[in-house]
Amino acid sequence: MTDGREGPLVVTIDGPAGSGKSTTAKEVARRLGFRHLDSGALYRAMTVAVMRADIPEGEWDTLDREALSQFEVELAPTEEGFLVLVRGKDPGEDLRSVETTRLAPFLARNRWVRQNLTEFQRSALSFGDLVVDGRDMGTIVFPNAGLKVFLTASLEERSRRRLLQEGKPLDEKSIRQEALRISKRDETDTDRAVAPLKKPMDALEIDTTDLSFETQVVRIVAVALALTREATEK
Ligand code: DC
Repeated sequence: MTDGREGPLVVTIDGPAGSGKSTTAKEVARRLGFRHLDSGALYRAMTVAVMRADIPEGEWDTLDREALSQFEVELAPTEEGFLVLVRGKDPGEDLRSVETTRLAPFLARNRWVRQNLTEFQRSALSFGDLVVDGRDMGTIVFPNAGLKVFLTASLEERSRRRLLQEGKPLDEKSIRQEALRISKRDETDTDRAVAPLKKPMDALEIDTTDLSFETQVVRIVAVALALTREATEK
């Protein structure tokens, strides 16, 4: 598909933890026939690699380009998207473990890690049209993306969705505890000096608190299709 620009069309979906970016991006990509890239999976894979190498957390900020090359994190294209590999292998359950989720934001503030993974994300363009989700997709990685979306939802709703996704109980106490964890991650992602989470100026903001999954997907797909139609009619 083309929107009249040179090269593949990119749809970026950014937003805070638990805003439903990845599930939304995956479905939007499927309906558009684009590949989906989950940039968070790359940050998680790098975190798994560093944890497996037993590098103490206190040293993570000092890892440089050369140190990072030993971890062999790679992106392998599949039919619908990409697999992240650590030393040639799928990191398996470690990718989404509680520990990886807790620690990934700390590694994500290292500027060499960001630079290295930004290059990977951009290289995904060589496989064609993309829907990418993350924190800095529309601001840093793909500033010229054809469509930028910023997803938000209330903290309570994001906590509820996270618990639901993990098959955990939805009682008030669990929601409160999860909200606390999510707001801590929000803080780390928003306050970091390099590539902080923020809404791209030209993004379409969608508050999904009271929207069904289907409604938000349809809305994004409709805008993407209108954009491509508009460009081909010019
Ligand atoms: O979206 P996620 O929970 O899978 O992301 C894991 C971590 O990676 C998240 O805490 C912040 C970081 N991340 C980032 O800094 N920039 C991105 N584009 C994607 C994720």
